[in-house]
Amino acid sequence: MQKKILITGANGQLGRSLSNLLKDHFNILGSDLNIANIERSSIASIEMDITNFENVNNIVKKYNPDIIINTAAYTNVDQSEVHRDLAWSVNVHGLENIIKASEQSTRIIHISSDYVFDGKNGPYKEDDKTYPISYYGRTKLAGENALRGSRRKFLILRPNVLYQSTTHDQASFFAWVYTSLNQEKNINVVTDQTSNPTWVIPFSQVILKCIVLNTEGIYHYGSDDNINRYEFALMIARTFDFDESLINPIITDDLKQLAARPKHSGLCTDKIQSELDVKVYPIQYCLDQIKLGMN
Ligand SMILES: NC(=O)c1ccc[n+]([C@@H]2O[C@H](COP(=O)([O-])OP(=O)(O)OC[C@H]3O[C@@H](n4cnc5c(N)ncnc54)[C@H](OP(=O)(O)O)[C@@H]3O)[C@@H](O)[C@H]2O)c1
Repeated sequence: MQKKILITGANGQLGRSLSNLLKDHFNILGSDLNIANIERSSIASIEMDITNFENVNNIVKKYNPDIIINTAAYTNVDQSEVHRDLAWSVNVHGLENIIKASEQSTRIIHISSDYVFDGKNGPYKEDDKTYPISYYGRTKLAGENALRGSRRKFLILRPNVLYQSTTHDQASFFAWVYTSLNQEKNINVVTDQTSNPTWVIPFSQVILKCIVLNTEGIYHYGSDDNINRYEFALMIARTFDFDESLINPIITDDLKQLAARPKHSGLCTDKIQSELDVKVYPIQYCLDQIKLGMN
């Protein structure tokens, strides 16, 4: 019999990609606050607010999944400083509700973030010291700790600067740059934040492999090269033939954002490559694949 997998946040960037990939291999139930788009993608779907324990408990008890993949999150880093209760409720209590509602035997795969680190000396290894510098980062670390302390079988995957192949996602730096340049808008992009952005397509394949191999623990996944946001924006402009002079280089302090950002971030992928034999791709390859898919 096919394994049953409940995906939370199935309407988000990662949730959509995962649902599409996993539906050919497993019995999938996609859940989110708004399921209109999931319904269109032909997987079974249900509205579920992970902050509402009764809601989560009813659905989990009825569906009885073998695995729950928690991609749902409050992902707005600056607004997390303002709406602290909501960010904590989704990113921490939401996961606690999933843990409490599910059977001990249910495996939980949770998506975290490089924002659990302070960004002073990345790229980070899995066992490097965590020290979030934003409230969003604190909620992501508290979520990790809730799962680690639950004595459940778990897998925590940390991506960074996640992006879809689509260009409308709120939580995607790629989508913001693509859409702005496509509309010939000038954008200010920082030169002092480095990372190795994670494209959801290979990341979803990594998650599939982790399911098949019953992988447990904490793993990082990102691209092969560490670059700053300005360099990433230039690559996007060049790949999609946009006017790169629209991109104005600035530094993080100029933005006066509500939340502090890790500057020298990025995630070391040696562990996942050597233990799980997964591939890590150059950013240019990922952008080229997105372009090919658009044609
Ligand atoms: N985006 C990044 O750059 C990035 C980087 C590193 C790690 N991550 C992590 O990767 C994971 C996936 O991120 P993503 O970029 O795919 O995020 P996303 O596109 O914002 O998707 C998150 C989904 O969760 C839903 N959601 C929010 N509150 C919920 C609730 N109470 N109950 C159920 N669903 C809820 C959102 O619905 P609404 O849209 O209706 O609110 C959205 O569909 C998250 O854990 C995130 O923290 C993201």
